[in-house]
Amino acid sequence: MNTDKRQGSRRKVLITAGLPYSNGRLHVGHLAGAYIPADIYVRYLRLTGADVRFVCGSDDHGVAIMLSAEKEGKTPAEVANFYREKQAQDFKALGISFDIYSGTSINPYHAKASQDFFRSLYDKGYLEKGSTRQFYDEARSAFLPDRYVKGTCGFCGTRDQNGDQCESCGKVLDVDSLKDATSVLSGEPAAIKDTVHWFLDLARFKSEVEAWLSTAVLRDHTRAYVNGLLSTGLVKRAMTRDISWGIPVPLEDKDALGKVLYVWFDAPIGYVSNTMAVCAEREGDPSKVDEWWRSPETEVLHFIGEDNTIFHCVIWIAMLSAEGTLTLPKAVIVNQYLNLQAPGEDVQKISKSRGTAVWVGDLVSEGVPLDSIRYYLTAIAPERARSVYKPDDFVLRHNGELADALGNLVNRITSFTLKYCASESGPTLVPYYDKALVFEPDRAFTAALEDTVTTVTKELEAFNFKAALERTMEFARQCTRYVDEKAPWTTRKTDMEATKVTLTFCLRAIHGLGVLLSPFMPTAAAKILAAFGRLPEEVAWGDVVEFEVVGRPLSQPEILFQKIVAELPAA
Ligand code: 2FM
Ligand code: ZN
Repeated sequence: MNTDKRQGSRRKVLITAGLPYSNGRLHVGHLAGAYIPADIYVRYLRLTGADVRFVCGSDDHGVAIMLSAEKEGKTPAEVANFYREKQAQDFKALGISFDIYSGTSINPYHAKASQDFFRSLYDKGYLEKGSTRQFYDEARSAFLPDRYVKGTCGFCGTRDQNGDQCESCGKVLDVDSLKDATSVLSGEPAAIKDTVHWFLDLARFKSEVEAWLSTAVLRDHTRAYVNGLLSTGLVKRAMTRDISWGIPVPLEDKDALGKVLYVWFDAPIGYVSNTMAVCAEREGDPSKVDEWWRSPETEVLHFIGEDNTIFHCVIWIAMLSAEGTLTLPKAVIVNQYLNLQAPGEDVQKISKSRGTAVWVGDLVSEGVPLDSIRYYLTAIAPERARSVYKPDDFVLRHNGELADALGNLVNRITSFTLKYCASESGPTLVPYYDKALVFEPDRAFTAALEDTVTTVTKELEAFNFKAALERTMEFARQCTRYVDEKAPWTTRKTDMEATKVTLTFCLRAIHGLGVLLSPFMPTAAAKILAAFGRLPEEVAWGDVVEFEVVGRPLSQPEILFQKIVAELPAA
């Protein structure tokens, strides 16, 4: 372990990625939205020696899961358990390196943490009881919160929207703003009936949200969106629901009977309760959660998809401000939507209900190289604008940029060295070379590697993952240009000592690429590092330029990327 570089920089960072509802499989939109960017950042931070916890789990409560249960003839718990398991498998296959993947209905700390949070707000007078109108299904004698109704968004006019949020304009919808509401249960027009709930008045926290906004790290599109929300005014939001699946409202009040916490109240508390579970698992003490959530030393960072913005950047900030003891997030990193375009077809939205998606499980079972999926989804990441996943473009980029360019570079330099610098006894070593034979092109090439790591670090720290990957791949191309110009296959016939300079400088760059690529493509990066006899867990970010490869045993790496010839599952 390269301990020197790991000391003195024990940044403590808690990273979360949005908790997916456990009522469906994961698709590439999920990956591109939150999980791949979060995992890249986590892997990078771990390489710098930071103390990191990467916390996630499924969001098990709420109407979405109840509806799936009804459709599938199962209980909500069965649905949640089934999909949570599938999601965990998919995340693992993609190398998403969570420290925990629990679920809000199975985490032993979650219900109490959520109820304590609710009680704390209630005791401070921030939760007001009030009568309100709610959609109601007369035929089924049931209230219809959230996705139990569909209708037209009263803000932007988009039809066929769920009762909780408009997919098109992102606004939260309610009985006043959802028009022509129809019950999803009976298909009948929804009636409206009075019910009692507990409300958080978001307007009371406007200045806290504004103060947070002035220091939080957000992308421009997120900041503009939140400013828009603030300028149109914050309203009271019910934090309880009339449904049977969820965390009981912890009040000794007859009106609270049969009611549960709103899923968007308990879900973000899942970040805290999942941290408790990690602390319990690692240190046998869930109260160590305070080191992550109640310490000024710790940075809390959330990675989410754009439809979750209002909940993380307004409601959660108001909740945290009201609760008062937990750390506000330093950054909320939001990616926009990823759309799909199959060859010869129009661009379309990913839609679970319409079945237009590229499912992670299908990619896994088809044997699609998963590092390449990570690569492609980062290369086209919707960081600042919506972007489009094109299966044929994926194959082109995998074959061209990964198998041909990167794979060939690594393969031909290592095999050439192993052939022409083979040792007579023992393993072949990365060649020692004569420093007097190092000239300007070699020095410029080393400077390019140093410049690359500086730029890539800066881009990663700014959450510009796409730019960080582009810069890394640009260096791989520089490496190819260097070797082509130095032509070791020619020089070896006349000047083996000069050839050794070329090969060693190239191998140093390839080792550097192994480190630089580790956050993006951990499997391919591990193959590169293994050629130098190194395990991923021994490697530090500073090794890009500081690790000396000269004299290290060299072996032929496994093929990094096999070309794809078969057709991929279409969108
Ligand atoms: O959009 C979703 O899938 C939500 N379940 C995200 C929740 S994020 C967090 F607050 F838990
Ligand atoms: Zn709308």
